[in-house]
Amino acid sequence: MRKGDYARGHHGDGERACSTPAEAEGETCRRDAGAVRWGVIAVLALAIAALVVTGLLWAATQRALAQPIAFNHRLHVKEVGSGCLDCHPHAADGVRATIPNVETCAACHGEPQGHSHEEARLVEYVKKKEPILWREVYWLPEHVYFSHRRHTRLGGLTCATCHGEVTEQVRPITQPFRRPTMEGCIGCHRETGARNDCVACHR
Ligand code: HEC
Ligand code: HEC
Ligand code: HEC
Ligand code: HEC
Ligand code: HEC
Repeated sequence: MRKGDYARGHHGDGERACSTPAEAEGETCRRDAGAVRWGVIAVLALAIAALVVTGLLWAATQRALAQPIAFNHRLHVKEVGSGCLDCHPHAADGVRATIPNVETCAACHGEPQGHSHEEARLVEYVKKKEPILWREVYWLPEHVYFSHRRHTRLGGLTCATCHGEVTEQVRPITQPFRRPTMEGCIGCHRETGARNDCVACHR
């Protein structure tokens, strides 16, 4: 008998514990109900622990990407009428598009434009000239070279090709529309006939 296979724990009610698989199938012995119960409890505990850990990890990523002010792209683009380049001018003429800082907002938010709580917070930043610490959602590792100007002004691509419908975005951007990957870059370069040798992107 392999000890512990069919009889785990204690059994003091006079019945013999199972000693072979064949016996375990029949009625001449019994599985240790206590062991089974503990097994079920252990599995449940593990499942609950896994859920808790997943939840905590999820919460951590959400927190990490929370933006300091609830910026609304749709409102500024569709209702105020600003263009992407009014706030991200280097998306056309630079390597990095960059996220606008408080000086850009100051042009209109030196005094409240409306009555929202988020705008009141922004006006405080503007009055104190305090930088807004926006978190960057799109980024590439150091070993990759990517230039916005090359793709927008020279390549003629629209922002939406890579960033989706930012025009419809009413909440701050907290995750990429499509995460930039090497396959993604190479795929479009193949279609458009752009360079695909390693040193084009890894300089
Ligand atoms: C009034 C200024 C303003 C305008 C106009 C504007 N943006 Fe933004 N943009 C911001 C601010 C502020 C953030 C950072 C907060 C956020 O993510 O929503 C941002 C973030 C982004 C990001 C995410 C950057 C990152 O990696 O975190 C993208 C992409 C972007 N904008 C694209 C666009 C496009 C495309 C348009 C035109 C359809 C546009 N923006 C118009 C101010 C603006
Ligand atoms: C060209 C003018 C202009 C610029 C530049 C501008 N805004 Fe606004 N913004 C407005 C107007 C107009 C409103 C609408 C106010 C209202 O009616 O509540 C507004 C509203 C807001 C609100 C309140 C939105 C809401 O949902 O209640 C926030 C927050 C805000 N802007 C953030 C920013 C930030 C951050 C910047 C700089 C990156 C910025 N704005 C740049 C004109 C501008
Ligand atoms: C060919 C794809 C592509 C196009 C087209 C494109 N972007 Fe980007 N964008 C990216 C990538 C990739 C990054 C991350 C770059 C990095 O980390 O160096 C990025 C980053 C950004 C950022 C974060 C700040 C930064 O520069 O890293 C903003 C804001 C942004 N883009 C706005 C825009 C706007 C506005 C347009 C249109 C005028 C645009 N992008 C067009 C791929 C693109
Ligand atoms: C949707 C299509 C598209 C995507 C996605 C794209 N590219 Fe490009 N890329 C182009 C085009 C088109 C050109 C040529 C632009 C021109 O006419 O100069 C180009 C040119 C380049 C160049 C200049 C190559 C040279 O001739 O020296 C680099 C570097 C580059 N891309 C890097 C990247 C990287 C890195 C990514 C991914 C993060 C990427 N691209 C994603 C379309 C794309
Ligand atoms: C059109 C642009 C482009 C070209 C061409 C390209 N790469 Fe990349 N490569 C990237 C980008 C973007 C990343 C970062 C991807 C990410 O972080 O998910 C990357 C990442 C890598 C990495 C790191 C992988 C990792 O897991 O971190 C290696 C290694 C690499 N590339 C090798 C190559 C080699 C070898 C070639 C030539 C056969 C090549 N690449 C051609 C854009 C390119």
